Amino acid sequence: MTQTLLRIVVLHGPNLNLLGTREPGLYGAHTLADVDRALADLASELGVDLTTAQSNAEGAYVDAIQQAARGGADGLLLNPGAYTHTSIAIRDALLAVGLPAVEVHLSNVHAREPFRHHSTIADVVVGRVMGFGLASYLLGLRGLVDRLRAPRPA
Ligand code: DQA
Repeated sequence: MTQTLLRIVVLHGPNLNLLGTREPGLYGAHTLADVDRALADLASELGVDLTTAQSNAEGAYVDAIQQAARGGADGLLLNPGAYTHTSIAIRDALLAVGLPAVEVHLSNVHAREPFRHHSTIADVVVGRVMGFGLASYLLGLRGLVDRLRAPRPA
């Protein structure tokens, strides 16, 4: 039986373009290109179509969510960076497009400053992965693909 190719869009938020040099003790030595390469490798292993994008601007992030939906994406893997903690617009975009999304963070935001403990999207995503550096993205992609292939939790 042939399986339709799942289309996943990964969206990195503000300052994640600086990975590698940005607070490496917290976020690791990997660059964003390293993250995207590791995601592309896993996507081909899992047999899914994956595209990635990064923006420092909240409105561009909202546009990218809308564009993913218009372009026929099946699911979203999101690290909205600092907008995680503040953005009602990103939450509204997710609710508007209704695509299954997984929230990922390199760091464990709950072990950091109190203002990072709140996520505007935590209750509208299918799952959250944080604290594992680059592996947070890979675990998040595996979880999202599992969920899309078997909509009910195993
Ligand atoms: C982050 C955590 C956020 O609090 C922070 O603003 C980031 C990165 C993470 O991946 O750990 O930019 O999303």
